[in-house]
Amino acid sequence: MNIMTENYTTALQRQNGSGLDRFFGNSGGAEQLLETAQPFMELLMRNECALKEIETKLNVLNDEFSLQYDHNPIESIKTRVKDPMSIVEKMKRKGVAPTIENIENTLNDIAGIRVICSFPQDIYALADMLTRQDDVTLIAKKDYIANPKPNGYRSLHLILGIPIFLSKGKRQMKVEVQFRTIAMDFWASLDHKMRYKQDVENADEIIAELKLCADAISAIDMRMQDIRNRIEKDREN
Ligand code: GTP
Ligand code: MG
Repeated sequence: MNIMTENYTTALQRQNGSGLDRFFGNSGGAEQLLETAQPFMELLMRNECALKEIETKLNVLNDEFSLQYDHNPIESIKTRVKDPMSIVEKMKRKGVAPTIENIENTLNDIAGIRVICSFPQDIYALADMLTRQDDVTLIAKKDYIANPKPNGYRSLHLILGIPIFLSKGKRQMKVEVQFRTIAMDFWASLDHKMRYKQDVENADEIIAELKLCADAISAIDMRMQDIRNRIEKDREN
């Protein structure tokens, strides 16, 4: 959500009589809908802000890193706020009533950021530089690079705490950061597209084949890392 959406809400509120009431009748249905929607929109807005904070930190590190070490550790950054339907579905799955407070306490991935790095070592360097910043707290870490999932999935997942500063004061927010190399992202994207693989015939074979692909891709990542390290070493000498 952004400023445009906020203005849109205000505009809707102003024109209630002539606009939304046509759909909801004039029994207060439109007002009620907007009243319920408002805290939810604020929740999404706060998460957008938290994403911007972390994204800026990553961009700063990328710029500085490229001056210092002569290469860009970040290939690309993708941010997303979980869409309302997915938020409600996940709360349902977890069996928790979807109040704003419950949503904020239960879900760690309303704000999500994916950082695609050039080399595996860049992932750890960036994660380290980010978590060492004194306004960032590390809430949880899952290292699926050191310990890949049984299906072969690799990425470094961090849940970070970050403050955002609003008109009424400071709010502590959570952001899920997924670090991957281009190679890990290539595998994860295709794996995601085939997520119904369990429903097909020969599911076991397909899962085993995907795991072999993940391992092969990882071996190439390591070789590319090794090539880069050799080039760097050469440059130093
Ligand atoms: P959920 O967030 O409910 O999935 O559980 P969790 O918080 O325990 O999950 P985890 O931190 O292990 O993974 C969260 C996210 O990582 C998912 O939403 C996906 O984006 C990604 N992910 C995890 N496992 C896989 C996988 O096997 N394949 C792919 N393509 N992505 C995965
Ligand atoms: Mg998650």
